[in-house]
Amino acid sequence: MARINAYSLALLLFCYVLSGVAEATYNVASFGAKPNGRTDSSGAFASAWSAACRSREPATVHVPNGHFLLSRAAFTGPCSSRVMLQVDGTLVAPSGYTSGGDDGWIVFDHVDGLTVSGGTVDGRGEALWACKAAGHGGCPSGATSLKVLNSRDVVISSLTSVDSELYHVMINGCEGVMVQDVQIAAPGSSPNTDGIHVQASSQVTVTRTSIQTGDDCVSVGPGTTNLRVEHVSCGPGHGIRYGAWGRESDESGVENVTVTGAAFVGTENGLRIKTWARAKVEGAYVRGVVFEHTLMHDMRNPIIIDQSYCPNHGGGAGCPHQSSAVKISDVRYTDIQGPSASKVAVKFDCSASNPCSGIGLKDIKLTLDGGKPAEGTCQHADGRASGEVEPPSCL
Ligand SMILES: *[C@@H]1O[C@H](CO)[C@@H](O)[C@H](O)[C@H]1NC(C)=O
Repeated sequence: MARINAYSLALLLFCYVLSGVAEATYNVASFGAKPNGRTDSSGAFASAWSAACRSREPATVHVPNGHFLLSRAAFTGPCSSRVMLQVDGTLVAPSGYTSGGDDGWIVFDHVDGLTVSGGTVDGRGEALWACKAAGHGGCPSGATSLKVLNSRDVVISSLTSVDSELYHVMINGCEGVMVQDVQIAAPGSSPNTDGIHVQASSQVTVTRTSIQTGDDCVSVGPGTTNLRVEHVSCGPGHGIRYGAWGRESDESGVENVTVTGAAFVGTENGLRIKTWARAKVEGAYVRGVVFEHTLMHDMRNPIIIDQSYCPNHGGGAGCPHQSSAVKISDVRYTDIQGPSASKVAVKFDCSASNPCSGIGLKDIKLTLDGGKPAEGTCQHADGRASGEVEPPSCL
């Protein structure tokens, strides 16, 4: 008996060390943060962060239960060691508009080895959405709730993000990011509340994540390479979007993006690649894209490539009457199924000057609700179909 106890004790001690409790922990409450949802705790969070960031050993900033009002939080590195922000409570934005605009509300910049775990961030975007909906103009741009910038080796896990003013999560200029078990929710009518936006980043994985929002669930911007999106559910929302590239005259390409095991319910688009119909772009491309094992339910454009994108007659961008200079190649769709809400379930509207090449369709079953046949349309698209493909391939 005594022997077992000694054993358990040793095991317990071992687990204690492993669980990281022995590492440096900085509780925001001991820096003066108030869990009442009314007192701005930005200063306390900043102090806790700089203490953790200076720590020579891996450090944790701990946010206990309760609601913490943050007017804005900029967590900047580089830090001396790995830092984890561990949240049990809720971080709430101010009730009006978040200051800092497009610079973001909660921002991590140059923090290699960052982990953000648990908790809820509430962007309280209602006031801004109402301003935009009123259509009088003069609304601020709004803030992205969580921005991770210029960082390597980042994990964001078990986080809930609700009601962002603008995007929920943005990853920009990063290498090696894992986003897992994240829940994102905003009303289907909320404007520009994209779920996760990735750009100028490589080796990003988004997994086991549910996104209900008013704009794109996942949007992929220029300079994204080796992105994996797996087991993501989307809806309401606008689907998974690539682009729109080609608005600026110099943009980098997108290469090696895989979307696997996604489920879309009632979204406006499913798997969409869109580019501006604009000729003056240097070297922009989209290639090496895999969409596979995806269930679609009631969406207007389950599979779409749209290179004629030109809203508001171009707004000075030079389109219409131009064709997109963005070259799209090697895009494979495999095992995509479900009822489509629109007659045209597959639409490849590619550039006349830079036709799409290497499009692959395999095992596609998209029909109208009730099983009536849908249609596919192709313009300037080249590729091949294999397996059972419905609607019949137009490639
Ligand atoms: C994309 O994937 C291919 C094949 O795995 C690889 O050869 C290529 O280097 C990748 N591109 C980038 C930018 O990593």
